[in-house]
Amino acid sequence: MIKNSSIEIRPLAGALGAEILGADVSQGPDEATFEQIFAALMEYGVLIIRDQDLTPAQQKAFCQRIGDPVPVPFVKTLDDHPEIIAIIKEADERTDSVFGGTWHTDFSFLPAPPKASCLYGREIPSFGGDTLFASMTKAYENLSPGMQDMLRDMKVVHSGKRSYGTTGTFANKQLDSIAVEATEAGDEEVLHPVVAVIPESGKRSLFVNDIYAIRFENMTEEESAPLLNFLCGQARRPENLCRLDWQQGSLAIWDNRTTMHYAVNDYDGQRREMHRVTISGEPLEGIQP
Ligand code: SIN
Repeated sequence: MIKNSSIEIRPLAGALGAEILGADVSQGPDEATFEQIFAALMEYGVLIIRDQDLTPAQQKAFCQRIGDPVPVPFVKTLDDHPEIIAIIKEADERTDSVFGGTWHTDFSFLPAPPKASCLYGREIPSFGGDTLFASMTKAYENLSPGMQDMLRDMKVVHSGKRSYGTTGTFANKQLDSIAVEATEAGDEEVLHPVVAVIPESGKRSLFVNDIYAIRFENMTEEESAPLLNFLCGQARRPENLCRLDWQQGSLAIWDNRTTMHYAVNDYDGQRREMHRVTISGEPLEGIQP
């Protein structure tokens, strides 16, 4: 536990995650506190800041300290705040899966994948509705030197097509509470390094996830699947995870380049409402020769 005059940082698990107490995001933390929060984000990968009371404008203003919000692709945003997605499941909604209910990294199919996301809990079920996070830096560190060497110069195709493409999930089935488009733009593909180097920390991160990483460069999906499944499976091992238990007013921020996450759908009969702002990043660089 790290404590100083302004905030307290409590690690949540061995691989990643920390809880921040004593910060007031609504007032815009002073520069020193903001720097501490940002440094903790780079160190722990995901933070949950407790006890916030935020308007959409205050959430956005805080996020803008980290970077510009991403123009949101495919998903309908709040009318007055085009940077904010309202992730809602109504109490009477019964679905096999919820928005975010597959292991993923937000919008990793963009040419410049988002640097971070910031999710605010507006209405939280009395139990359930947690979010799981996996550390992609630890997942990389835990690979054998031989596997790390093999991945070093490889590239991976990311695309939103399994969700937002012309034959993707949302082309056939809409969620009740979130409007999602499925279009030809959803079929577009981009190339990223398999091992990304994070500019702020120099950390190496496995940049794959279960839904948007489609295949390796110059390989078919069938050829790529065994290795992609192995890498994502390593990342999903319990020792590599932390679990955010939401409370009313919790605000989570995650480094979107070093984590993947999964929204747990175990709260049928209760309403859950979250507001997400996704923050722009740069095109990813791999390991330099
Ligand atoms: C998301 O994927 O950003 C949503 C996570 C959640 O609702 O817990």
